[in-house]
Amino acid sequence: MSARMIAVLVLLALCSQALASDPSPLQDFCVAIKDTETPVFVNGKFCKNPNYTTADDFFFSGLDKPGNTSNPVGSKVTPVNVMQLPGLNTLGVSLVRIDYAPYGLNPPHTHPRATEVLVVLEGTLYVGFVTSNPENRLFTKVLNKGDVFVFPEGLIHFQFNVGHTNAVAFAGLSSQNPGTITIANAVFGSKPPIKDDVLAKAFQVDKKVIDYLQAQFWMDNN
Ligand SMILES: *[C@@H]1O[C@H](CO)[C@@H](O)[C@H](O)[C@H]1NC(C)=O
Ligand SMILES: *[C@@H]1O[C@H](CO)[C@@H](O)[C@H](O)[C@H]1NC(C)=O
Repeated sequence: MSARMIAVLVLLALCSQALASDPSPLQDFCVAIKDTETPVFVNGKFCKNPNYTTADDFFFSGLDKPGNTSNPVGSKVTPVNVMQLPGLNTLGVSLVRIDYAPYGLNPPHTHPRATEVLVVLEGTLYVGFVTSNPENRLFTKVLNKGDVFVFPEGLIHFQFNVGHTNAVAFAGLSSQNPGTITIANAVFGSKPPIKDDVLAKAFQVDKKVIDYLQAQFWMDNN
């Protein structure tokens, strides 16, 4: 094998590493377990002993029920990730149901570990995401029942119900634990608060504006 070919192979190997989301499971499944009395160890994690694993470890019920959208943003995310469904452990995938009241908003947020693909079941959503610096290009679309949109991994995105009826969407995420950072909550609602000098300079506004924003209740719709 020529040095050049080896270099190409190494590059390909590195690329597939960089493109991977959650790691490959290495076994059929590794049901997450808290009780460490009867675990199997895989890659340093606890898996439930496969001999004691049942169908219920791969099962979740209740996504037919709408989330409660009576909150300031008018939306509610119901997650089904490894916290709710232990059988998802190591499998690199999860999902959410999102309910929107009329004019409800799933506010700008990012999933640090996952791409999200969303399908609208009911209603009309104005959705979008913004690319990274320096372009910060905004891509938007109005989605109706049956429409699908993808939010690339890590990018800030939102969904806004522009209809006067409730809206419902489901979304798949390419991580068992996608994480969510809601921008307003992280910036203005951190505990303890970020110094207002920092945010006044960052946002190029008076400190009073920052103090006002930091005094708000930043609701988490997850
Ligand atoms: C599962 O059961 C088989 C058959 O009884 C046994 O050989 C194996 O050690 C068990 N595995 C674990 C992890 O306990
Ligand atoms: C929805 O949430 C609101 C505000 O927390 C609460 O007052 C209301 O009882 C909830 N509704 C249901 C059906 O749980």
